[in-house]
Amino acid sequence: MIDRATVDKILDAVRIEEVIGDFVSLRKRGANYLGLCPFHQDKNPSMSVSSTKGIFKCFACGKAGNAVSFLMEHEHLTYVEALRYLAKKYHIEIVEKEETAEEIAHRMRYESLLVVTDYAQKFYADILWNTDVGKAIGLSYFHERKFSDETIRKFGLGYAASRPLTLCSKAVKEGYKPEYLVAAGLCLEREGTGELYDRFFDRVIFPIHSISGRVIAFGGRTLKADKSVAKYVNSPQSEIYDKSRSLYGIFQAKNAIAKADKCILVEGYADVISMHQAGVTNVVASSGTSLTVEQIRLIKRFTDKITIIYDGDAAGIKAALRGIDLVLEEGLSVKVVLLPPEDDPDTFAKSHNLIEIQEYIEENEKDFISFKSDLLLEESERDPVRRAQVIGDIVQSVSVVADPILRNIYVDMVAEKFDQKPDSVLAKIAELRRKKRALERSRRRFEDQQAPVPPVMEPAPAAEEDVAPPTRPAFELRDAFLAVPERELCYYLIKFGTYILHFEKDMYYGSEPVEETTVSQYIRAALADDDLVFVNDLYRTLFDRYYAFEATLPAEEEPEARQERIVRYFTSGEDQALNQAVFDLILEEHPLTVKTYEESITPEAQALARTVPKSVLLYKLRITEEQCNATTKEITQAQRNGEAEILRDRVARLQLLNTVKNRLSKELKRL
Ligand code: CTP
Ligand code: MN
Repeated sequence: MIDRATVDKILDAVRIEEVIGDFVSLRKRGANYLGLCPFHQDKNPSMSVSSTKGIFKCFACGKAGNAVSFLMEHEHLTYVEALRYLAKKYHIEIVEKEETAEEIAHRMRYESLLVVTDYAQKFYADILWNTDVGKAIGLSYFHERKFSDETIRKFGLGYAASRPLTLCSKAVKEGYKPEYLVAAGLCLEREGTGELYDRFFDRVIFPIHSISGRVIAFGGRTLKADKSVAKYVNSPQSEIYDKSRSLYGIFQAKNAIAKADKCILVEGYADVISMHQAGVTNVVASSGTSLTVEQIRLIKRFTDKITIIYDGDAAGIKAALRGIDLVLEEGLSVKVVLLPPEDDPDTFAKSHNLIEIQEYIEENEKDFISFKSDLLLEESERDPVRRAQVIGDIVQSVSVVADPILRNIYVDMVAEKFDQKPDSVLAKIAELRRKKRALERSRRRFEDQQAPVPPVMEPAPAAEEDVAPPTRPAFELRDAFLAVPERELCYYLIKFGTYILHFEKDMYYGSEPVEETTVSQYIRAALADDDLVFVNDLYRTLFDRYYAFEATLPAEEEPEARQERIVRYFTSGEDQALNQAVFDLILEEHPLTVKTYEESITPEAQALARTVPKSVLLYKLRITEEQCNATTKEITQAQRNGEAEILRDRVARLQLLNTVKNRLSKELKRL
């Protein structure tokens, strides 16, 4: 158990964009970060991460939470595991309360399996480096393959010996449960006796890491040339290892992939390792099977460009061809590099230096159209039937490309390459896409018919509300509570809306502004970030009219002049209530709520970069407080009615709202 003070310390240290950034590549967008949402099939970045509030939110699928809930959801961790993960990341020592036997027993099985695989990795590495047999056989094999010690350590390679150096005997002696050793696929039980024996022996070991760097499986390569021995023995599927969702090397490569905005895909463990050692680090392997949709999506979190480098032999070409359509369908662009027929990426990386490798890739990288056409046409250049087939094959590939712009580029390329009219290629593609859509529709209809009819429930479940992200009000917000901060934001619009905010370093909350922003742009973006719309009718009207009118102003005028026009417009309209409200605003000096925080005597126009964000924060804080109040009421009600489901949901929401609230008030104090 982790005590409360440590929990607070961890939560204080967390920067959500760093936590999520380990799994999703994020781009800065104003005060927030934007990335592809990993919780649904996201084609365009819809997940917004706010470092100020410490939360993330997906505008497309509605998933929202803080750093802890992100980890729980994404890495399948429990609350406590997520905290441990964060503590480790931020180097915070965990003060443990004594764990009861029961608590130990309840610790998640998942975590236990990862503990076991971690132990096994260290065990195999220890044998490799520190035993005679390990050094003589395993280490010298790796050295023979020209893997440096540094590389061997970087990938955590090891050696599995045989009796008496078995994993099962040592692990069990040290208290690791046979149950977990078996479940993690490391050991097997002999039938009848139930005696444990190792899956891996007499093999060099390649640990397979999850995207966050935990060991989830192993590949073991035999050193025997004997054809009757399987070249590789791999961990089986398990609760922690899903082969179709893993990529060898992803942990070591992910940063380089994001940085290079490109992922190089090879086939085997050795290929990845040799490429890394040569300095090409944005490389992962599909481990000998054809690429799966899940693996492509894993890559897509970091880049949308894949380059496949396979052996130049027939098997390599076939494997490359298989992957192409799937990658295209997932909306990524794909290129292929064929190596000289005698090489694979491993041997090629060893016989060339970094510059040579990079140059080779650059010169030989072919988009899939050239790759396919060169390859297929080569076989039968003069055969018209064959030629038509090749075009058909390529057009089929183009038709699966989801992005219309990209698709059109490919259409032009195909047309040029095969001397066709772009229109006829387009028509062919349109036809293929129509057919595909029709097929999908009929399949969906069929599935709908098969789906069980949902039972009628009383009362109807409020599903919409249950999944609503926490900042979106799921209930009536009280006008009286929010009119004051809304009025204040209107004050800034009317008095300074067109003024530029001059941020100084450290003054901006969240992150540095990317571009010059006016007060009105800032406020609109800040509200849009959280889907906020003014609750008070008068101020909502003012807000809407403000932006409509501002858009009509001549852009070349000075802010002061533009602001005057705005005031004139707003104080001379038909709506008397609005005129009055605007008058009140412009006659006011500092608005009330900020004044209590503001002790500076700088002229108001120069303090905008401080006061406007503050005012926005105050507004958001108010809304969050309101939501807390309402949620607390719902909790009481759910408790009274014994509605466990709703109760759980609302407690989780309250927790989230509190995180937001704390962040906001902390940020306010900082400004
Ligand atoms: N593979 C496997 N089981 C096999 C053969 C291959 O799981 N029996 C997978 C491994 O992930 C391997 C990849 O397919 O890394 C590529 O296979 P191969 O080219 O035969 O192996 P390499 O790792 O390149 O081995 P080496 O260079 O040592 O011959
Ligand atoms: Mn190889």
